[in-house]
Amino acid sequence: MKKNIVTTFVITLLLLSIVFALPKEKTKYTLQVASNIEIQQDTMFTYGKALFKENCRACHSQDMIRTSTAPPLGGVTKKRNKEWLYKFTKNSLKMYKEGDSLAVAIGDEYWGLMTSFPMLADKDLDKIYYYVEKRYEMSLQGIPVPIEFEFKAAENNNAKACTHILIDKEDILNVSVSKTRHWTFSCKRTSHSKSNWKKTTLKAMFDYDKSVNEIAALVHDFSAFRSSKTSYWDFK
Ligand code: HEC
Repeated sequence: MKKNIVTTFVITLLLLSIVFALPKEKTKYTLQVASNIEIQQDTMFTYGKALFKENCRACHSQDMIRTSTAPPLGGVTKKRNKEWLYKFTKNSLKMYKEGDSLAVAIGDEYWGLMTSFPMLADKDLDKIYYYVEKRYEMSLQGIPVPIEFEFKAAENNNAKACTHILIDKEDILNVSVSKTRHWTFSCKRTSHSKSNWKKTTLKAMFDYDKSVNEIAALVHDFSAFRSSKTSYWDFK
């Protein structure tokens, strides 16, 4: 009995000393700081991505590596000084006209000149270039740019599709959108009976075939069609 009490006492003492030995507050504090920085960086990335997609992606590739109608932007913040870079982004044409040697050299290398972005503030450009370099690093590590849902309508937006797509897993070859923004997805058949239609959502169709993203900007009274899953969309 006495022995038991002594053992319990020793174990309790041991446990207590372990608990007090842990640098509790300090660990908590460092963790807190780390996650705040992470959240800030994450916000920079998210906003930067949105700004990049809205303003730059039409001409500059999103993986920051491939050349499209404009040069890829990966690594550009290390190649150019910040003042030049921000001035150029806001009004490259002005710099070109004023004879800035670098602007002239880059301008003459490519067939098109770049749009001006006087409305972008320095803090927007901070976010854009943060995203540019982060996305570039990811591409260098082999992480592909994910295909994201680009439709303006909500993901759970009502849509209908034919059972040939929904059940028989045929390809989406016709898409149209009504005035009330209801989307219709159908297969190669030109006519369907009432029982061939089923309700679905826009997101479900996007998940089924991500290439419907290419017609995310489709407006009502138009329909998009293609002859196979791998051919370009046509409009009528
Ligand atoms: C309409 C197409 C177009 C859009 C949109 C566009 N760019 Fe450009 N960009 C170009 C072209 C073309 C060049 C090559 C230089 C020139 O012609 O002025 C260029 C060059 C650049 C350069 C110079 C690269 C270097 O080597 O120094 C930077 C930086 C740049 N763009 C950033 C941006 C950013 C940031 C955005 C979005 C806010 C953007 N561009 C939007 C077409 C575009």
